[in-house]
Amino acid sequence: MSDIYDDPAFFKAYSQMDRSKKGLAGAGEWHELKTILPDFSGKRVLDLGCGYGWHCRYAAEHGAKSVLGIDTSAKMLAEAAAKTTDQRITYRRMDMQAIDQLPDQFDIILSSLAIHYIEDYAQLVKKISDKLPVGG
Ligand SMILES: C[S@@+](CC[C@H](N)C(=O)[O-])C[C@H]1O[C@@H](n2cnc3c(N)ncnc32)[C@H](O)[C@@H]1O
Repeated sequence: MSDIYDDPAFFKAYSQMDRSKKGLAGAGEWHELKTILPDFSGKRVLDLGCGYGWHCRYAAEHGAKSVLGIDTSAKMLAEAAAKTTDQRITYRRMDMQAIDQLPDQFDIILSSLAIHYIEDYAQLVKKISDKLPVGG
């Protein structure tokens, strides 16, 4: 599994961005994204390409029952893990294209600034759809 986010120079530059230092408040899209997020109360949440885990923690802080954040980058996941002790949040290193191999189902699947890395968008959408309740 290779990932540009594990390249030391790239990771260092990413870590100096506002979104890395300030979290959601430093993410340019957050003021719009937060207006379309659903109610997380009691929900099982999956975050595709979770990075530092800002959205995982937001979901947990807003009542999610469980949150799984997945990412291909070991460095990004290490940052995410260091930022929480919340037992409801789990981080796992895996490619989002392999979510069909997860045994779990989810109520909410979100992704921020990560799906554009996937070549076969239609196949990913099918896999996401299969992980949600019927009609989800
Ligand atoms: C721009 S960062 C966004 C991180 C976070 N979602 C956010 O909004 O702050 C993109 C993330 O997607 C991850 N990523 C890229 N391709 C991926 C894949 N195929 N599966 C899982 N994660 C992936 C990268 O490692 C990186 O952490």
